[in-house]
Amino acid sequence: MGILKAGIVGCGGIAYQKHLPALSLLKDEVEMVYFCDIIEERAVKASKEFGIPKAKASTDYRELLKDGNIDVVYVLTPNVSHSAITCDALEAGKHVMCEKPMAASYADAKKMLDTAKKTGKKLTVGYQNRFRRDSRALFAQSRSGELGEIYFAKAHAVRRKMVPTWGVFPDKSKQGGGPLIDIGTHALDLTLWFMNNYEPYSVLGQSFQKLKDYPEGNVFGPWDPAKFETEDSAFGLIKMKNGATIFLEAAWAINMINTKEAQVTLCGTKAGAEMFGAAYRNEGYTVINKIENGIMVETRPSEGGGIFGFSGAGSGQPQDLEARQWIDAIKNNTDPLVRPEEALVVTRILEGIYESAAKNEAVYF
Ligand SMILES: NC(=O)c1ccc[n+]([C@@H]2O[C@H](COP(=O)([O-])OP(=O)(O)OC[C@H]3O[C@@H](n4cnc5c(N)ncnc54)[C@H](O)[C@@H]3O)[C@@H](O)[C@H]2O)c1
Repeated sequence: MGILKAGIVGCGGIAYQKHLPALSLLKDEVEMVYFCDIIEERAVKASKEFGIPKAKASTDYRELLKDGNIDVVYVLTPNVSHSAITCDALEAGKHVMCEKPMAASYADAKKMLDTAKKTGKKLTVGYQNRFRRDSRALFAQSRSGELGEIYFAKAHAVRRKMVPTWGVFPDKSKQGGGPLIDIGTHALDLTLWFMNNYEPYSVLGQSFQKLKDYPEGNVFGPWDPAKFETEDSAFGLIKMKNGATIFLEAAWAINMINTKEAQVTLCGTKAGAEMFGAAYRNEGYTVINKIENGIMVETRPSEGGGIFGFSGAGSGQPQDLEARQWIDAIKNNTDPLVRPEEALVVTRILEGIYESAAKNEAVYF
């Protein structure tokens, strides 16, 4: 397989923050040939900045899908549109990298998985937090059995006052929800991946819309209360079929000091693990706690970074590793690190938490 041809659908924030620069580093492997955005200037601008000299631009993704040269499509649009664009792209014979969350509903996400299976095309979801240095290390530790049986975990996705005010984030009709579906999805994905447990039994959820009329002090600038339609925080108690339990906390705004995002606490029979630090800047680290020689000890990586065995500086940012692993999976016909079956379970649980909160009762899967 020669140089892959990529089509980009959605040329907004995540395209510029993650995929366009990451793909630019892989010029020998993949070239960006077609750009689509419902706002024409955005598609044209991205095609000029990141495309091959003859790159095309369109406002209709169906035009892009007609291009028989395109091997892989990047779906970087608001959540509610993920499923239709992804399914159409798969049906058109393209592999698909879809941004997180997989979809706004379980039914939509299931359609995506079914279509990928039917067409034999590959599908992955943009959970780049799995590619962080601390995440890869904790994955290795939890899968090696160092923590023993992981029977309780906390999935943290809590911002004190960081409501995203650009794009369509607090618009329920476009995103399907607020912080739970937006950032809770990353924390839950990491947790299930570390625990290697994709069999939920029940959830009990609650969501709040308590701070919408208090926009002052927001890190991204004050929001418009009239447009803040989603929850501002949500919580879920998730029981898995084997009894393991996860507490998920998600907030864009909450009066809480100890905030953590895309981080996990794992409690195992042999040891515990808790993530700290600026994970979003790839500067997170994990503290392992256990009993050694009869006393309680905590171990954490040194500033130099080496104790987990990763190469440290120069080893690449999570988004670069994500892009490389996905392109390699297509070229070598192997699985992407983030498999759609796993992302589907994340979507299912998040939907269960919203449903439980709305019905005021537990939801059983
Ligand atoms: N992986 C991450 O950590 C991460 C971070 C931010 C956003 N995201 C995800 O990326 C997606 C997009 O978020 P964003 O921050 O880039 O939003 P954004 O609003 O900045 O960009 C979305 C772009 O898609 C375009 N668009 C909307 N509908 C379209 C359609 N039908 N066809 C073509 N273009 C269309 C919009 O005009 C806009 O330019 C969301 O699903 C979000 O959850 C992921």
